[in-house]
Amino acid sequence: MAFPAAFIDELIARNPIEDVVGQYVTLRRSGANLFGLCPFHGEKTASFSVAPDKGIYYCFGCHKGGGAINFMMELEGLSYPDAVRNLAQRAGMEVPEDEQYQSRYRQQERLWALHKEAARFFHSQLYAPVGKAALAYAMGRGMPKSTLINFGIGYAPDSWDSLVKAMRAKGYTDEELKDSGLVTVSQKSGNLFDRFRDRLMFPIIDTRGNVIGFGGRIMNNKDPNAAKYLNSPETKIFNKRKNLFALNLAKKSKLGYLILVEGYMDAIALHQYGFDCAVASLGTSLTEEHATLISRYVEQVVLIYDGDEAGQRATRRAIPMLEKAGIQVKVLKMRDAKDPDEFLKKFGPDRFKLLLEESSNRVEYQLADIRKKYDIREADQKVRYVQEAAELICTLDSSVKREVYGTRVAEAAGITYDAVKLEVNKAFKRRIAREKRKQEAIDLAPVKALQPRDRSIRYDNVKSAVAEEGLLAYVLKDPSLLQQTKQLKPEHFSVELFGRVFRQFTQRYEAGMDISLGVLEDVTSQEMNHLTATVHRHSEPVSEAAFRDFVQTVLSQNRGQQVSTDDDLMALRNQLKERKGTGG
Ligand code: UTP
Ligand code: MN
Repeated sequence: MAFPAAFIDELIARNPIEDVVGQYVTLRRSGANLFGLCPFHGEKTASFSVAPDKGIYYCFGCHKGGGAINFMMELEGLSYPDAVRNLAQRAGMEVPEDEQYQSRYRQQERLWALHKEAARFFHSQLYAPVGKAALAYAMGRGMPKSTLINFGIGYAPDSWDSLVKAMRAKGYTDEELKDSGLVTVSQKSGNLFDRFRDRLMFPIIDTRGNVIGFGGRIMNNKDPNAAKYLNSPETKIFNKRKNLFALNLAKKSKLGYLILVEGYMDAIALHQYGFDCAVASLGTSLTEEHATLISRYVEQVVLIYDGDEAGQRATRRAIPMLEKAGIQVKVLKMRDAKDPDEFLKKFGPDRFKLLLEESSNRVEYQLADIRKKYDIREADQKVRYVQEAAELICTLDSSVKREVYGTRVAEAAGITYDAVKLEVNKAFKRRIAREKRKQEAIDLAPVKALQPRDRSIRYDNVKSAVAEEGLLAYVLKDPSLLQQTKQLKPEHFSVELFGRVFRQFTQRYEAGMDISLGVLEDVTSQEMNHLTATVHRHSEPVSEAAFRDFVQTVLSQNRGQQVSTDDDLMALRNQLKERKGTGG
């Protein structure tokens, strides 16, 4: 247990869910619940609900849900202990000293501090004699001193251990250096070596201003096998799926949208020329986490990936990801240059601005993509072009949009709009038929339909899992039902998560404590989403007969399960304690 249960109870009691959510979302009451616009995905009609009596929130649109702690974790991107701290502060409560938490937080703080020192060290090397060539390279790529300072750009010397030495001199231990990912460890001798050598260094800074990692660019071709860019590995403080280069600066931009590019140099060049809303992904394709992060700051993104096939593939993948997060996507097609950096240096910011202004929304981009596939001088290819374009147009949600784009396709193909419209209607019917078939398949296969959306939670025994859902949902509404579950052990549950929750509920009930989803521990946010969705699905009033059925189903479905006695448990717990060597 990270925090004492009684403390968490009080924390939940003093932070009513409607108040916590209310800091971010305007809520309107409707019956027992409150509704508002979901802060996790863009929407125009309120599908985000808050149930004060249950202490939970749930979005019917994006299916996120949980209690107050969970809400803070999701919304502010906080860890569990940090969310607890935040709520404690809000309620004016003192956080009990927690050694495990303290030590983990201290480790993080040390790593942030180490990274800041490392960035200072690299920056200083750029102006030292060893950095002469690197400084010349940076200047040669058109970076003035102000850019070098704004982005904290530096140089990792061509040496095996200059960073290691500099950091040791600042008091960082070898253990901390290993944790930072900035060194590699020799297999043979166990000695530490600098990971980045003879590279121009770009610090990666999170939205709270902490340096969390680096990207390093090679500046010569001495080693043809060396990667052009080397990035920090995943560490306790760096996850490239969740961070974007330059977002720390772009989040302050007044432009009201974000420009998403592929490369460090592209983002830097854009900032330099006044497009201070540019960010770059860190050598990975865009992730859902990125999209969510972006949606916290803007509603519109201009995608500028390189003009090559890889860049176009990345664009196609990124569009639905961003739209799912409620972001309006525009696509800028790079022309006459490989990437924005090259374009800006060749043609300057004014021409880039023109490019930006004519950057098309994703429908235009996709229509152009389809257009390129066909040679419409050939009659049969022209037919296929119109058909494929119609497939796209029929997915648009307004008749005005369908007419606008339909007219364009008609013009391109040299046929009448009515002919295109006919194709669009056909495509629409085909789509509806497809969706209906899909829905029927779902209805006919309830087992599959009941599987959680999150793949990490699996229902291997659906019959039992559904009973487990109902059982827990009822217990939440009426904890006294737990008196009727004496035979039931967590091990009887077919879904490990439900067993874990049941164990905590039972323990809390026996200790005379409150039971709600908000007080659960050791539950990931995906698991919390699933639990909240489950509770919402079982909104029917509690029936004792149904409850007894649930219990019987779980027992009979899992009779073969090894159920450990309390003695076994004690023995196991003692073993674990010894292995960890904590003794507590
Ligand atoms: P590019 O190869 O397109 O480089 O990689 P660039 O951004 O134009 O860089 P310059 O202009 O040659 O300096 C685009 C991005 O892909 C990642 C980096 O994030 C880079 O900015 N990348 C590329 C790597 O992570 N490793 C590599 O070896 C190459
Ligand atoms: Mn480039």
